[in-house]
Amino acid sequence: MNKRKIVVTSALPYANGDIHIGHLVEYVQTDIWVRFQKLRGNECVYICADDTHGTPVMIRARKEGVTPERLIERSHALHLKDFGDFQVEFDNYYTTNSQENKELSERIYREAEKQGFISAKTTPQLYCEHCKMFLPDRFVKGTCPKCGADNQYGDSCDRCGSTYGAEELGHPVCTTCGGAPVVKDSEHLYFELEPQHDYLEKWIPGHTTSDVSNKLLEWFREPLRGWCISRDAPYFGFEIPGHKDKFFYVWVDAPIGYIASLWDWCKRHGEKLEDWWPNGGAGAGDAPELYHFIGKDIIRFHCLFWPGMLHAAGFKGPDKVFVHGFLTVNGEKMSKSKGTFVNARTYLDHLPPEALRYYYAAKLGGTVDDMDLNLADFVQRVNSDLVGKITNIASRGGQMLQKKLEGRLGALDDEGKALVARCREASSVIARYYEDRRFNLAVVEICKLADAANEYFDRMEPWKTVKTDAEKTRTSLTAALNAFRIIAIYLKPILPAYADKAMKLFGETEWKWDSILSAMENRSLGPYEYLASRIDAKQVEAMISAAAEKPAESGEVAHESRASKNRQHAAADAAVKAPLKPEIAFPDFDKLDLRIGVVESCETVPKSSKLLKIVLDAGPLGRRTIFSGIRGAYPEPEKLVGAEVVFAANLAPRKMSVGVSEGMILFAGEPGAGGGVLSPREKAGGGTPVT
Ligand code: 2FM
Ligand code: ZN
Repeated sequence: MNKRKIVVTSALPYANGDIHIGHLVEYVQTDIWVRFQKLRGNECVYICADDTHGTPVMIRARKEGVTPERLIERSHALHLKDFGDFQVEFDNYYTTNSQENKELSERIYREAEKQGFISAKTTPQLYCEHCKMFLPDRFVKGTCPKCGADNQYGDSCDRCGSTYGAEELGHPVCTTCGGAPVVKDSEHLYFELEPQHDYLEKWIPGHTTSDVSNKLLEWFREPLRGWCISRDAPYFGFEIPGHKDKFFYVWVDAPIGYIASLWDWCKRHGEKLEDWWPNGGAGAGDAPELYHFIGKDIIRFHCLFWPGMLHAAGFKGPDKVFVHGFLTVNGEKMSKSKGTFVNARTYLDHLPPEALRYYYAAKLGGTVDDMDLNLADFVQRVNSDLVGKITNIASRGGQMLQKKLEGRLGALDDEGKALVARCREASSVIARYYEDRRFNLAVVEICKLADAANEYFDRMEPWKTVKTDAEKTRTSLTAALNAFRIIAIYLKPILPAYADKAMKLFGETEWKWDSILSAMENRSLGPYEYLASRIDAKQVEAMISAAAEKPAESGEVAHESRASKNRQHAAADAAVKAPLKPEIAFPDFDKLDLRIGVVESCETVPKSSKLLKIVLDAGPLGRRTIFSGIRGAYPEPEKLVGAEVVFAANLAPRKMSVGVSEGMILFAGEPGAGGGVLSPREKAGGGTPVT
């Protein structure tokens, strides 16, 4: 068998957010495929990176008072830890904010320019005078120009589904500061696709599945529209050569980040980039295969713009783009309020990674269809198949051999050989399913082998024969354990840590796919190590309730109020003598940046009985929107307007169901029971004075 050279990528996660179980569908899927290739003896390099550029990272860093570089450094470490704990093993996990990526982005851009594929156009755009920036579509909201729905983003309407330019919105509002933007002209650069119309029309069908390409090809009935690749300063990204204060749109340098990450890997492994991602036909003959795994939401970028950019710059394009669907949980879109939008870390706090890897594999069919994580089915399948069916062979057989038969395997008799042969025969069909990313079918085949091994075990009744015929028992356990060993080898791409433990049980140090051909006879077993245990619906419930975003109705009140409530309760028996929270040292207190702000507006929040939305004029800090659970203290919220209040200015912004809260207003007492915000001058807005 010829050793293949393969480069594989997963989409680069945004540095701006946490990894969640929806992301993991892709990373687990890719990881399984890569591990399968490696197990088969192929040379496969799995590349990824954090996608670091763009407005959201810049704004979040600004709000958190850190540099974007610091923010992306933090995310990088968190992402890597999450992936590692899920046994997703990249050969290189880099960043798009690298020198290599800058160089490559400039090079690809200049090549495209040389070919005449870059044009410039002036377009009207929304500009926020307060934030001093042009507003990207997702940073502006207003009334849909088509159906009149309120509160719609600048690119499309949730209600009627129409798409439009942000400048067409009625009553636009900057989502960062709440101010009204103005329309300003700005010149932008476009990557023209029409010159590659014929090339791309031919390229697409051979490089994606037919459902994906049919959809894409609909656009080819008309001339292809140019793609805007520039963004105005301020922008966290790479400046476009020759265009001061214009930056590459994040979607330009994100996919180029695949090459940059591979380049970094090459440097660290003494390899040449041209040998791994050729340009200009050099080495094209024996070029490695190249595959991108992506979600269906980013098809346009990977199957249209990206091959266009690569072709323009003479780089090899992907051999295939593998597209998967979205994750639903219990048949619905993941939801923060329902607790089904589960971060990787929250999952890991409650459940073992193997369970999810196994379940995803059992459901992934290599198509673009959405995949459902049905939580009851998840528990049931992990327990009945992975634990009850597969692991059971090893735990029953292994433990009996250890305890009753000195842990020594015997020889296979004819019946045992037949069982082992049956397991080996499944090799090519299982390998085919892995290769085609139909992991669900691979799991079905593997489970059939486990059924056969269990059926054999039950027929041999070793728990009975062990009392009368030790050698016969040894022979049957040898067969069952050899069958388990082959099953564990087949499962290695899905359950790498599990397979490693199983491998140690047989005293081996490396498994390849062909290891199924050897038989374990007349040797001692290593100690039996726990492989997998049952999961409980209670663990799932605990995870869901940990993930459920609390409405945080009183979340933004500095909790003097909690002390006060306690005081009331405690008054009956004794005064609270000690603070309710552990003592803190002065440096902890000193971390607070307390400032004075003037209430510019104060209003109730629809559907909330406790929250007030308060906009503060925070002087040099600009405007701050704070949600505070103090409505009980202010039946007429507008009375707070003009009041000076004290607020914590350096509290990390907090996402609530009603919006982002950008600080905390100091409040003493209990809302509705005499409490009020602390005002440096006087009791503010009619709240009862604090005593
Ligand atoms: O959609 C996303 O999450 C993007 N960060 C994916 C980028 S993939 C590649 F092009 F870099
Ligand atoms: Zn603004």
